Amino acid sequence: ANANTAALGGVVGAAPSAGDAAALTILYGSQTGNSKGVATKLKEQAESRGLAVKLVSMADYKPTALKKEKFLTVVVSTYGEGEPPEDAETLHEFLATKKAPKLDGVKIAVIGLGDSSYEFFCQTAKDFEQRLNKLGAETIYQRADLDVDYDDEAASWISGALDAFEPDLKAQQGATGGQVVSFGAPATAASQYTKQNPFPAELSLVQKITGRDSTKDVRHVEISLEGSDITYTPGDSLGVYFLNDEILVDEVLTLTQIDAASQVKIADEELSIRDALIEKLELTQSYPGFVEKYAIATGTPELLKLVEDKAAMREYIEPRQIYDVIRQNPAKLEAQTLVDCLRKLQARLYSIASSQAEVEDEVHLTIGLVEFEAFGSEHLGGCSGYLARRAEEGCRVKVYSEHNDNFRLPANDETPVIMVGPGTGIAPFRAFLQERDAREASGKNWLFFGNPHFTQDFLYQVEIQGYLKSGLLSKVDVAFSRDQAEKVYVQDKLRQNSKDVFAWLEAGAHLYICGDANRMAKDVHNALVDIISENTGKSYEDADQYLKDLRSANRYQKDVY
Ligand code: 2AM
Repeated sequence: ANANTAALGGVVGAAPSAGDAAALTILYGSQTGNSKGVATKLKEQAESRGLAVKLVSMADYKPTALKKEKFLTVVVSTYGEGEPPEDAETLHEFLATKKAPKLDGVKIAVIGLGDSSYEFFCQTAKDFEQRLNKLGAETIYQRADLDVDYDDEAASWISGALDAFEPDLKAQQGATGGQVVSFGAPATAASQYTKQNPFPAELSLVQKITGRDSTKDVRHVEISLEGSDITYTPGDSLGVYFLNDEILVDEVLTLTQIDAASQVKIADEELSIRDALIEKLELTQSYPGFVEKYAIATGTPELLKLVEDKAAMREYIEPRQIYDVIRQNPAKLEAQTLVDCLRKLQARLYSIASSQAEVEDEVHLTIGLVEFEAFGSEHLGGCSGYLARRAEEGCRVKVYSEHNDNFRLPANDETPVIMVGPGTGIAPFRAFLQERDAREASGKNWLFFGNPHFTQDFLYQVEIQGYLKSGLLSKVDVAFSRDQAEKVYVQDKLRQNSKDVFAWLEAGAHLYICGDANRMAKDVHNALVDIISENTGKSYEDADQYLKDLRSANRYQKDVY
């Protein structure tokens, strides 16, 4: 078993064989665990109805097992520009090839997770459904594309989908005399504090760690978990709730001519519109759904035009935050109407930058302040703006930890690791290094870091140099991109160290990438393919396969955003 299945705790009860005709197979493709969470809920609900289920990660699923499926649900997220989570890549690709089997008679239902502020919203779920349909499978319950605030919609989809599967499944189970068996992830001992019930933690420290002349404002943040039962493992993320800027909230109230004290309802809670806008609703990160609802609520012709034109909508949203739309199209509204236009404020997830072996009941984060000029005013990211500019040390912030079994140090302390983490991508590697230091792990550690300028942007420089001196870090390679005429990036440093990188991989090293998903992680992947190709004489395809194999062995892991 790989680390993934080991972490799931293995098999519960008698496992039905792949494609057990009387069982509902739940296939999930998760990167940060949200899809796995929904899949687990689906499994629990199915079991409570007495249905046999099989819960499988796509990472552990043999595509050829598809032939034996009768009832299949797919729970899958989408990342970046419409891409599948890594665990889903192989199956996603396989379904589009000639090798994919005919699936006539197979009944399916697909549910997608995504973020509607991205262009290719839930594209991977759409692909899965389309590809399965093309092979002959029949959709028996309509696909749902879940947005970031998905809990309620997920619950209603689950009960609807199970209503659709139940009669056929029960008939099959009766026919085979099947008893209820279950296979999959048992609930792990979890904190009482969750996304729905976060812990109000003390914000102990917010410290700028980029220089005065830096183009970036990066903060080292320390939060105390004292008084909570929250624990975390290096590789996990912390969900952080934040408060919107009161100045913006008051401006929005003025623009919409709403009295700050007006009572509104959100779910079952009654509160003033001002409190709702500060604490409960998204006012920064824009997405098409808001523009659409606001256009209809206010009857603004220019905004209504955008609803018909996806490309124009995209272009409109890109430079704006939500309040910009209101600022540029003010209109009198009822308080509740405004609330109904907005989506629930979502916690922001940050890769944890500390190990409890070192910091005990603290948790550290490395947060880049999102700031930009637009339409003549300064714009700040919702959460990073709150932490860097508005929150005071000593105040309480609501947090929860989110486990990520897809980004873990090797279980074996002797295994070497290569870490590629430019910019704030350094965060989880600080956690890894603290952990390995505390464990006195003998495996070698190699860090690749990059940022614009050595004097301004060498995050955690003192600590890194200390680790180099103590021998915890065997090698550090830095790419300060703007310190010379030609740009130098981490992938260039990897290429310059081609022989050594390959030797480490051959010696069993685990390879980790954290940071920008759109360009950096892809460029680094391509550099790795070249390195493997160069050292083995393999074709590009075979070198890519070498990396795929590393990934299957959980030796190539990414935490990219
Ligand atoms: P730049 O901003 O000077 O172009 C962290 O953001 C570091 O990553 C910066 O030094 C940044 O360089 C660099 N960077 C930008 N694009 C990159 C890419 N495609 N691959 C790797 N690093 C990149």
